[in-house]
Amino acid sequence: MARTRYSFTQRLLHWLIALLVFGLLAMGFTFWSLGFEGVKDTFGSELTNTFYMAHKSFGILLFFLVVLRLLLFRFSPAPEYQTALTGTERVISTTTHLLLYLLLIGMPIGGWLATSISGFPIQFFGWAQPGLDPADQELGRQLFLMHGIGGLVLLAILLLHIGAGLMHWKRKDGIMTRISLP
Ligand code: HEM
Repeated sequence: MARTRYSFTQRLLHWLIALLVFGLLAMGFTFWSLGFEGVKDTFGSELTNTFYMAHKSFGILLFFLVVLRLLLFRFSPAPEYQTALTGTERVISTTTHLLLYLLLIGMPIGGWLATSISGFPIQFFGWAQPGLDPADQELGRQLFLMHGIGGLVLLAILLLHIGAGLMHWKRKDGIMTRISLP
């Protein structure tokens, strides 16, 4: 019988990735609005270093989880829809999912590049690699700006995605069940 839901691993990865993205966006926008010194004034040096380490580490983890999720599609492709989507719904959902994947892959790579080029260390929990020496602060600043704009675009697409999810949940058309954990 054809599957009607994503595999359990795919569903678990969806919600783990969602949790990571919400946390990373919250930290990223805090860094962007306050700046490093502002974060330090608000939270103190120790907590600030932990926040930056966490943002970099969870960003790298996110990258690997998204790659894993994409690789898993080779073994368990997306299930067929129980109720066919309209042409417009199909175009919107395919475009939204494609953009989400592009941003989820591009944002960690962009963050890593911006960090390294600015001369800041790349950190993955206990492991650290020094940034480039000599650093290019100006290029780093531009890359961080693009990283921030990428975060805003990601947030906008996520709001659309979550809105669509809630709409399907209200309609009880089985689409939410495809991805829900239980
Ligand atoms: C940061 C948060 C999230 C990210 C990055 C994300 C990402 C994704 C991606 C990339 C897919 C496509 C899976 C595929 O390729 O087939 C997907 C599917 C789905 N997501 Fe999310 N998602 C997030 C949060 C949510 C939330 C909060 C909801 C519920 C309101 C939700 C509901 C769904 C549903 C129902 C599907 C299945 C759509 C279908 O089968 O056509 N997602 N999500």
